[in-house]
Amino acid sequence: MGRLDGKVAVITGAARGIGKADALLFAQEGAAVVISDIDPEPLEETAREIAAAGGKVAWCVADVTKPEDTDKLMDTAVEKFGDLNILVNNAGITRDALIHRMTDAQWDICIDTILKGTFNCIRSAAKYFRKEGHGGKIINVASVVGLMGNIGQINYSAAKAGIIGLTKTVAKEWASFGVTCNAIAYGFVHTRLTGEKESGEIVAGEKVGIPKKVRESMLEMVGGKAMTPEEAARPVLFLASSDADYITGHVLNVSAGMYM
Ligand SMILES: NC(=O)c1ccc[n+]([C@@H]2O[C@H](COP(=O)([O-])OP(=O)(O)OC[C@H]3O[C@@H](n4cnc5c(N)ncnc54)[C@H](O)[C@@H]3O)[C@@H](O)[C@H]2O)c1
Repeated sequence: MGRLDGKVAVITGAARGIGKADALLFAQEGAAVVISDIDPEPLEETAREIAAAGGKVAWCVADVTKPEDTDKLMDTAVEKFGDLNILVNNAGITRDALIHRMTDAQWDICIDTILKGTFNCIRSAAKYFRKEGHGGKIINVASVVGLMGNIGQINYSAAKAGIIGLTKTVAKEWASFGVTCNAIAYGFVHTRLTGEKESGEIVAGEKVGIPKKVRESMLEMVGGKAMTPEEAARPVLFLASSDADYITGHVLNVSAGMYM
Protein backbone atom coordinates (compact mmCIF):
# COMPACT_ATOMS: atom_id res chain seq x y z
CA MET A 1 0.00 0.00 0.00
CA GLY A 2 1.31 3.43 -0.94
CA ARG A 3 1.23 6.40 1.40
CA LEU A 4 -0.63 8.48 -1.19
CA ASP A 5 -3.01 5.87 -2.58
CA GLY A 6 -6.09 7.45 -4.17
CA LYS A 7 -4.71 11.00 -4.02
CA VAL A 8 -4.30 13.40 -6.93
CA ALA A 9 -1.24 15.67 -6.75
CA VAL A 10 -0.22 18.69 -8.82
CA ILE A 11 3.51 19.49 -8.78
CA THR A 12 4.92 22.60 -10.45
CA GLY A 13 8.47 22.90 -11.77
CA ALA A 14 8.51 19.12 -12.19
CA ALA A 15 10.55 18.78 -15.39
CA ARG A 16 13.78 18.36 -13.44
CA GLY A 17 15.41 18.71 -10.03
CA ILE A 18 13.42 18.45 -6.82
CA GLY A 19 9.99 18.69 -8.51
CA LYS A 20 10.79 15.71 -10.73
CA ALA A 21 11.96 13.68 -7.72
CA ASP A 22 8.73 14.62 -5.87
CA ALA A 23 6.68 13.42 -8.85
CA LEU A 24 8.50 10.09 -9.14
CA LEU A 25 8.21 9.46 -5.39
CA PHE A 26 4.54 10.48 -5.19
CA ALA A 27 3.65 8.22 -8.12
CA GLN A 28 5.56 5.35 -6.51
CA GLU A 29 3.50 5.95 -3.36
CA GLY A 30 0.25 5.58 -5.31
CA ALA A 31 -0.73 9.16 -6.17
CA ALA A 32 -1.94 10.17 -9.62
CA VAL A 33 0.45 13.02 -10.45
CA VAL A 34 -0.13 15.99 -12.70
CA ILE A 35 3.28 17.38 -13.46
CA SER A 36 3.82 20.84 -14.82
CA ASP A 37 6.63 23.11 -16.01
CA ILE A 38 7.42 25.78 -18.59
CA ASP A 39 9.87 23.41 -20.30
CA PRO A 40 7.86 20.95 -22.44
CA GLU A 41 10.57 18.49 -23.48
CA PRO A 42 12.02 17.46 -20.10
CA LEU A 43 8.48 17.57 -18.71
CA GLU A 44 7.25 15.03 -21.23
CA GLU A 45 10.35 12.91 -20.58
CA THR A 46 9.57 12.94 -16.84
CA ALA A 47 6.00 11.86 -17.60
CA ARG A 48 7.33 8.99 -19.71
CA GLU A 49 9.63 7.88 -16.87
CA ILE A 50 6.77 7.89 -14.38
CA ALA A 51 4.48 5.97 -16.74
CA ALA A 52 7.25 3.45 -17.52
CA ALA A 53 7.59 2.79 -13.78
CA GLY A 54 3.85 2.04 -13.65
CA GLY A 55 2.74 5.41 -12.24
CA LYS A 56 -0.43 7.34 -13.03
CA VAL A 57 0.60 10.61 -14.66
CA ALA A 58 -0.57 13.52 -16.77
CA TRP A 59 1.47 16.51 -17.82
CA CYS A 60 0.52 20.10 -18.48
CA VAL A 61 2.80 22.86 -19.73
CA ALA A 62 2.05 25.86 -17.52
CA ASP A 63 3.86 29.06 -16.61
CA VAL A 64 3.04 29.73 -12.96
CA THR A 65 3.33 33.49 -13.51
CA LYS A 66 0.19 33.32 -15.68
CA PRO A 67 -3.14 32.86 -13.88
CA GLU A 68 -4.78 31.43 -17.01
CA ASP A 69 -2.10 28.70 -17.06
CA THR A 70 -2.50 27.84 -13.38
CA ASP A 71 -6.31 27.69 -13.82
CA LYS A 72 -5.79 25.26 -16.70
CA LEU A 73 -3.38 23.18 -14.60
CA MET A 74 -5.77 22.66 -11.68
CA ASP A 75 -8.67 21.97 -14.07
CA THR A 76 -6.52 19.39 -15.89
CA ALA A 77 -5.97 17.48 -12.64
CA VAL A 78 -9.69 17.30 -11.95
CA GLU A 79 -10.59 16.46 -15.57
CA LYS A 80 -7.99 13.68 -15.80
CA PHE A 81 -8.17 12.17 -12.33
CA GLY A 82 -11.41 13.44 -10.80
CA ASP A 83 -10.06 15.48 -7.89
CA LEU A 84 -7.23 17.57 -6.48
CA ASN A 85 -5.82 16.64 -3.07
CA ILE A 86 -2.18 17.74 -2.98
CA LEU A 87 -0.50 20.82 -4.44
CA VAL A 88 3.29 21.22 -4.39
CA ASN A 89 4.38 24.73 -5.34
CA ASN A 90 7.93 23.97 -6.32
CA ALA A 91 8.67 26.04 -9.48
CA GLY A 92 11.50 28.45 -8.82
CA ILE A 93 14.30 30.42 -10.36
CA THR A 94 17.33 32.41 -9.23
CA ARG A 95 18.65 35.69 -10.66
CA ASP A 96 21.55 36.64 -8.42
CA ALA A 97 23.12 40.10 -8.27
CA LEU A 98 24.35 42.49 -5.62
CA ILE A 99 21.68 45.01 -4.60
CA HIS A 100 23.16 47.98 -6.42
CA ARG A 101 23.49 46.01 -9.65
CA MET A 102 20.17 44.19 -9.61
CA THR A 103 17.94 45.05 -12.55
CA ASP A 104 14.16 45.39 -12.46
CA ALA A 105 13.95 42.33 -14.70
CA GLN A 106 15.99 40.23 -12.24
CA TRP A 107 13.85 41.40 -9.32
CA ASP A 108 10.58 40.84 -11.17
CA ILE A 109 11.26 37.34 -12.48
CA CYS A 110 12.02 36.00 -8.97
CA ILE A 111 9.04 37.66 -7.30
CA ASP A 112 6.71 36.71 -10.17
CA THR A 113 7.82 33.08 -10.41
CA ILE A 114 8.23 32.23 -6.75
CA LEU A 115 5.78 34.44 -4.87
CA LYS A 116 3.12 35.37 -7.41
CA GLY A 117 3.41 31.91 -9.01
CA THR A 118 2.65 30.21 -5.71
CA PHE A 119 -0.25 32.58 -5.09
CA ASN A 120 -1.60 31.98 -8.61
CA CYS A 121 -1.58 28.21 -8.10
CA ILE A 122 -3.27 28.41 -4.71
CA ARG A 123 -5.95 30.79 -5.97
CA SER A 124 -6.57 28.56 -9.00
CA ALA A 125 -6.89 25.53 -6.70
CA ALA A 126 -9.28 27.33 -4.32
CA LYS A 127 -12.47 26.10 -5.95
CA TYR A 128 -11.36 22.50 -5.43
CA PHE A 129 -9.86 22.83 -1.94
CA ARG A 130 -12.47 25.12 -0.38
CA LYS A 131 -15.18 22.52 0.02
CA GLU A 132 -16.54 21.33 3.31
CA GLY A 133 -14.89 18.09 4.34
CA HIS A 134 -12.67 17.94 1.25
CA GLY A 135 -9.32 18.44 2.94
CA GLY A 136 -6.01 18.65 1.15
CA LYS A 137 -2.33 19.34 1.51
CA ILE A 138 -0.37 22.26 0.14
CA ILE A 139 3.41 22.30 0.30
CA ASN A 140 5.23 25.47 -0.71
CA VAL A 141 8.94 25.35 -1.43
CA ALA A 142 10.75 28.09 0.46
CA SER A 143 14.47 28.27 1.26
CA VAL A 144 16.73 28.89 4.23
CA VAL A 145 17.63 32.08 2.38
CA GLY A 146 14.08 33.32 3.12
CA LEU A 147 14.87 32.89 6.82
CA MET A 148 18.43 34.15 7.00
CA GLY A 149 19.04 36.32 3.91
CA ASN A 150 21.91 35.86 1.49
CA ILE A 151 24.41 38.11 -0.24
CA GLY A 152 23.44 38.53 -3.90
CA GLN A 153 19.91 37.20 -3.47
CA ILE A 154 17.73 40.13 -2.39
CA ASN A 155 15.06 39.13 -4.93
CA TYR A 156 15.12 35.41 -4.13
CA SER A 157 15.30 35.85 -0.34
CA ALA A 158 12.39 38.33 -0.40
CA ALA A 159 10.30 35.96 -2.53
CA LYS A 160 11.09 32.97 -0.30
CA ALA A 161 10.38 34.98 2.88
CA GLY A 162 7.08 35.96 1.26
CA ILE A 163 6.28 32.28 0.78
CA ILE A 164 6.43 31.82 4.54
CA GLY A 165 3.85 34.55 5.29
CA LEU A 166 1.67 33.28 2.46
CA THR A 167 1.87 29.71 3.83
CA LYS A 168 0.69 30.76 7.29
CA THR A 169 -2.19 32.75 5.81
CA VAL A 170 -3.42 29.80 3.74
CA ALA A 171 -3.07 27.57 6.81
CA LYS A 172 -5.35 29.90 8.77
CA GLU A 173 -7.82 30.72 6.03
CA TRP A 174 -8.38 27.14 4.83
CA ALA A 175 -8.09 25.25 8.14
CA SER A 176 -11.87 25.00 8.35
CA PHE A 177 -11.85 23.06 5.04
CA GLY A 178 -9.33 20.57 6.44
CA VAL A 179 -6.54 21.89 4.23
CA THR A 180 -3.04 22.02 5.66
CA CYS A 181 -0.41 24.33 4.22
CA ASN A 182 3.27 24.06 5.06
CA ALA A 183 6.57 25.29 3.68
CA ILE A 184 9.91 23.53 3.26
CA ALA A 185 13.08 25.55 3.63
CA TYR A 186 15.83 23.71 1.82
CA GLY A 187 19.51 24.39 2.30
CA PHE A 188 21.63 22.92 -0.47
CA VAL A 189 20.27 20.40 -2.97
CA HIS A 190 22.20 19.31 -6.09
CA THR A 191 20.18 20.66 -9.05
CA ARG A 192 20.53 22.95 -12.03
CA LEU A 193 20.01 25.95 -9.72
CA THR A 194 22.98 25.05 -7.55
CA GLY A 195 25.46 23.75 -10.12
CA GLU A 196 28.68 25.62 -10.84
CA LYS A 197 27.78 28.92 -12.45
CA GLU A 198 30.93 28.93 -14.56
CA SER A 199 29.56 25.94 -16.50
CA GLY A 200 25.87 26.63 -15.77
CA GLU A 201 22.90 26.48 -18.14
CA ILE A 202 21.33 29.56 -19.64
CA VAL A 203 17.78 29.85 -18.33
CA ALA A 204 15.50 32.60 -19.68
CA GLY A 205 18.51 34.49 -21.01
CA GLU A 206 20.80 34.24 -17.97
CA LYS A 207 23.26 31.73 -16.61
CA VAL A 208 22.04 29.98 -13.47
CA GLY A 209 24.17 28.39 -10.77
CA ILE A 210 26.47 29.43 -7.96
CA PRO A 211 30.05 30.67 -8.42
CA LYS A 212 32.57 27.90 -7.63
CA LYS A 213 34.04 29.68 -4.58
CA VAL A 214 30.65 30.44 -3.01
CA ARG A 215 29.55 26.88 -3.71
CA GLU A 216 32.58 25.49 -1.91
CA SER A 217 31.86 27.58 1.19
CA MET A 218 28.20 26.49 1.10
CA LEU A 219 29.26 22.85 0.93
CA GLU A 220 31.38 23.39 4.05
CA MET A 221 28.23 24.56 5.86
CA VAL A 222 26.54 21.21 5.20
CA GLY A 223 29.43 18.95 6.12
CA GLY A 224 30.62 18.61 2.52
CA LYS A 225 27.46 16.87 1.30
CA ALA A 226 24.53 18.51 -0.44
CA MET A 227 21.25 16.59 -0.70
CA THR A 228 20.18 14.79 -3.84
CA PRO A 229 16.75 15.72 -5.25
CA GLU A 230 15.57 12.24 -4.21
CA GLU A 231 16.60 12.92 -0.61
CA ALA A 232 14.94 16.34 -0.78
CA ALA A 233 11.66 14.77 -1.93
CA ARG A 234 11.16 12.64 1.19
CA PRO A 235 10.13 15.48 3.53
CA VAL A 236 7.69 16.66 0.83
CA LEU A 237 6.14 13.19 0.87
CA PHE A 238 5.89 13.38 4.65
CA LEU A 239 4.03 16.72 4.53
CA ALA A 240 1.76 15.40 1.76
CA SER A 241 0.90 12.22 3.67
CA SER A 242 -1.55 11.60 6.49
CA ASP A 243 1.43 11.45 8.88
CA ALA A 244 1.35 15.26 8.73
CA ASP A 245 -2.41 15.67 9.22
CA TYR A 246 -1.95 17.84 12.31
CA ILE A 247 0.93 19.93 10.99
CA THR A 248 -0.01 23.22 9.39
CA GLY A 249 1.47 26.70 9.01
CA HIS A 250 4.88 25.16 9.66
CA VAL A 251 8.22 25.87 8.00
CA LEU A 252 10.19 22.63 7.86
CA ASN A 253 13.89 23.38 7.78
CA VAL A 254 15.59 20.73 5.62
CA SER A 255 19.08 22.11 5.47
CA ALA A 256 21.55 19.77 7.20
CA GLY A 257 22.19 22.51 9.72
CA MET A 258 22.81 25.33 7.26
CA TYR A 259 20.18 27.22 9.22
CA MET A 260 19.20 26.53 12.82
N1 LIG B 1 18.49 23.41 -5.09
C1 LIG B 1 18.55 23.98 -3.89
O1 LIG B 1 19.56 23.90 -3.16
C2 LIG B 1 17.35 24.74 -3.36
C3 LIG B 1 17.45 25.34 -2.10
C4 LIG B 1 16.36 26.02 -1.62
C5 LIG B 1 15.19 26.08 -2.34
N2 LIG B 1 15.12 25.49 -3.57
C6 LIG B 1 13.87 25.60 -4.31
O2 LIG B 1 13.46 24.33 -4.78
C7 LIG B 1 12.60 24.50 -5.91
C8 LIG B 1 13.05 23.58 -7.03
O3 LIG B 1 14.30 24.02 -7.51
P1 LIG B 1 15.44 23.05 -8.09
O4 LIG B 1 16.63 23.27 -7.24
O5 LIG B 1 14.91 21.69 -8.28
O6 LIG B 1 15.74 23.79 -9.47
P2 LIG B 1 15.58 23.35 -11.02
O7 LIG B 1 16.04 24.48 -11.84
O8 LIG B 1 16.21 22.02 -11.20
O9 LIG B 1 14.00 23.17 -11.18
C9 LIG B 1 13.11 24.26 -11.18
C10 LIG B 1 12.05 24.02 -12.23
O10 LIG B 1 11.11 25.13 -12.19
C11 LIG B 1 10.74 25.42 -13.53
N3 LIG B 1 10.23 26.78 -13.66
C12 LIG B 1 10.92 27.94 -13.63
N4 LIG B 1 10.10 28.98 -13.87
C13 LIG B 1 8.85 28.46 -14.04
C14 LIG B 1 7.59 29.03 -14.33
N5 LIG B 1 7.43 30.36 -14.49
N6 LIG B 1 6.52 28.21 -14.43
C15 LIG B 1 6.66 26.86 -14.29
N7 LIG B 1 7.85 26.27 -14.03
C16 LIG B 1 8.93 27.06 -13.91
C17 LIG B 1 12.04 25.23 -14.32
O11 LIG B 1 11.78 25.08 -15.72
C18 LIG B 1 12.61 24.00 -13.65
O12 LIG B 1 12.24 22.81 -14.32
C19 LIG B 1 12.68 25.99 -6.27
O13 LIG B 1 11.55 26.66 -5.74
C20 LIG B 1 13.94 26.44 -5.58
O14 LIG B 1 13.93 27.81 -5.29
C21 LIG B 1 16.18 24.81 -4.10
